[in-house]
Formats: sequence, C-alpha cells, structure tokens
Amino acid sequence: MKEIVVSGIRPTGNLHLGNYFGAVKSFIEMQHNCQCYFFIADWHSLTTHPHPDNIRHNVKTILAEYLACGIDPATATIYVQSDVREVAELYLYLNMNAYLGELERVTSFKDKVRSQPDNVNAGLLTYPSLMAADIIVHKAAKVPVGKDQEQHVEMARKFARRFNTIYGVDYFVEPASYHLSETAVKVPGLDGSGKMGKSEGNAIYLVDDAETIRKKVMRAVTDAGPTVPNSPKSEAIANLFLLLNIVSDQTTCDYFNDQYNACTIRYGDLKKQLAEDISRFCTPIRERILELLKNDAYLDRIALQGAECARASAAKTLREVREIIGFRGN
Ligand code: ADP
Ligand code: TRP
Repeated sequence: MKEIVVSGIRPTGNLHLGNYFGAVKSFIEMQHNCQCYFFIADWHSLTTHPHPDNIRHNVKTILAEYLACGIDPATATIYVQSDVREVAELYLYLNMNAYLGELERVTSFKDKVRSQPDNVNAGLLTYPSLMAADIIVHKAAKVPVGKDQEQHVEMARKFARRFNTIYGVDYFVEPASYHLSETAVKVPGLDGSGKMGKSEGNAIYLVDDAETIRKKVMRAVTDAGPTVPNSPKSEAIANLFLLLNIVSDQTTCDYFNDQYNACTIRYGDLKKQLAEDISRFCTPIRERILELLKNDAYLDRIALQGAECARASAAKTLREVREIIGFRGN
C-alpha cells in the first residue's frame, strides 16, 4: 500500500517562493509515489481572518496555483477543507482530550497572542487540534511542510497517540513532518533577516511578473561589501546566496561565490542575475495560473472531484472513530 501524505495551505493570499520550496515542491515530488491529499485550509484561515473578504476568490486562487505548480489532480486528491465536514467532527473529539496548558505553550499561539491581542479566539488556541484532525483523518504518515509547522505536526502525533491510549486501540497513525531538503525548509526574505512570508510583507509571489520581481529583488537589503578575502557573509548577503542556490544553476552560484571571496563582487550584478533566474522560474507558473483562473468550470470540477474522494476517506475514519468512542457508527 502506498504511503499516505497530507498537507494544506491557508488561503490568505497568493503562493510565494517560500510556500513553493517549503511545501508545494514536496507535494509535486511525492504525488506519484504516495497517496496524496492536498487541501486548502479555509477553516484555519478564519482564526486570523474572521471576516475573509471574498473567501471563494481566495480558495479559487490557491487551487489554480496548486495546479499551475504541477500538482496533478489525476494522481493527488486536491480539496477544500470546509468541503469535508467529518474533519470538524474529529476536531471536536480531539479537543475533548486537548489541554489548555499544552495549547497555550504552542509557539504559533503565543505569536498570535502578541500580534493580534484583540482577537485571541478559541479557534486560534485549538489550531493544532484542527490541523491534527486534517492529518489523521486520512491516517497520513507524512506531512510535507516548512520548518515553522513542525511543532503543529508534533502535536498531531501527540493527539493521535493520546486517542489510541485513551481508547485502548492501535488506530491512528502517528504522522511525521517531511522536508525535501535542509536548505528548502526556510526560504529567506529579501529584507535582510528572517523568512519569506505573506505577513512579513517580503514575499515574491509565483504570480509576480518579471518587472515586479526585478523591483523587489533590486530593493533587497545588502551590506557594504567584503573587504577581506574569504570573509563570512552577513545575514542579508547569505540570504541572497540562499535564494540564488534555490533558483540558479551551480555555475552561477559558484561564479558569485568566487566574486564574493575575491572581494570583487558587485551586488547589483548578483541581484540582476537573481531577479532573472527567479523570473525564469516563475514565468511559466504565472502563465498557467492566469490561464487556469479563466476556467471556473474546470476549477469547480477539480474541487468537487477532490471533495468526493477526501470525504470518502474521512467518512470511513469517522465511522470507525464513532464506534471506538462508543457512539453509533453511522
Ligand atoms: P506564510 O508564512 O506566508 O503565511 P503559510 O504559513 O500559509 O505562509 O505557509 C504555508 C506553507 O508554506 C507551510 O507548510 C509553511 O511551512 C510553508 N512556508 C511558508 N513560508 C516559508 C518559508 N519562507 N520557507 C519555507 N517554507 C515556508
Ligand atoms: N498550518 C498550516 C500553515 O499555516 C496549514 C495547515 C492546516 C496544514 N492543516 C494542515 C498543513 C495539515 C499540513 C497539514 O501552513
């Protein structure tokens, strides 16, 4: 039997290079060897966006972007979280055995308490139990995500194990997070430090055109330049090199590394090359996104087909879970 893989992304904006190299690239590589469920986490987006402007539009955008990246609906199940209501039922059961102390200690919760003090809602606190429900409802073994999601997957493992212990069963699989490579887990931003992210306001989106990409890259933070041969790189420069490693070929990376080590590097040239290579990567994806967004009927069909398949898998789990807990199975 093929290994089961589950992952999702919240529809709170367009996909960026961090999403692509941190998560979506793994989806694409895993889809042919594993049984994959890739979904759009629209319920999760309510934890931070209580009045989602045009949720339908955001969901459609991510769906088109998933497909444009190369997720193949003929092999992977692509669906919208809110289409699978069984997940909400499992979330309820998991919440009964999720404790305030452990939920309050989750880093992402603590961050949100700081960043949105006026909206510390119960959904935010129980974000990890909903995410656990997403994962274990399909009995997934692997969860491709970026490094920032590791703690959530660890909670999913804990909740799966706890369910098995409480009910004396060996039912749920304990999932593990999956990263494609060490370098891809934290794609940096262009502002000198930290990761690329929507909320960080430093993202290059897959749908950005060449001119937008050029402007963003040319504005990237640099330093005064090396004066001593082979000196270590500042964080801002190391980040530019990390991005170059992700999108450019080895010869280009070696060339700029040598220039840096010889103190002859011109950051303007490095940025120009980086912008070109990012554009080369994004352009075909961007063209496919724009094409797909014109085809509402096709996107609706994919979502419907995905919902049916995901619902069948989730309904089977919930029937069994109800029996295990002691409710009627159907
Ligand atoms: P954002 O941080 O822009 O809000 P999300 O939190 O919606 O992005 O992340 C969706 C997926 O993309 C998650 O699996 C997350 O780990 C991954 N991801 C987001 N940003 C990065 C990044 N800079 N590097 C690696 N992975 C990332
Ligand atoms: N929390 C994830 C993020 O912000 C999105 C998500 C929700 C998810 N449920 C999931 C990821 C289940 C993997 C598996 O990116």
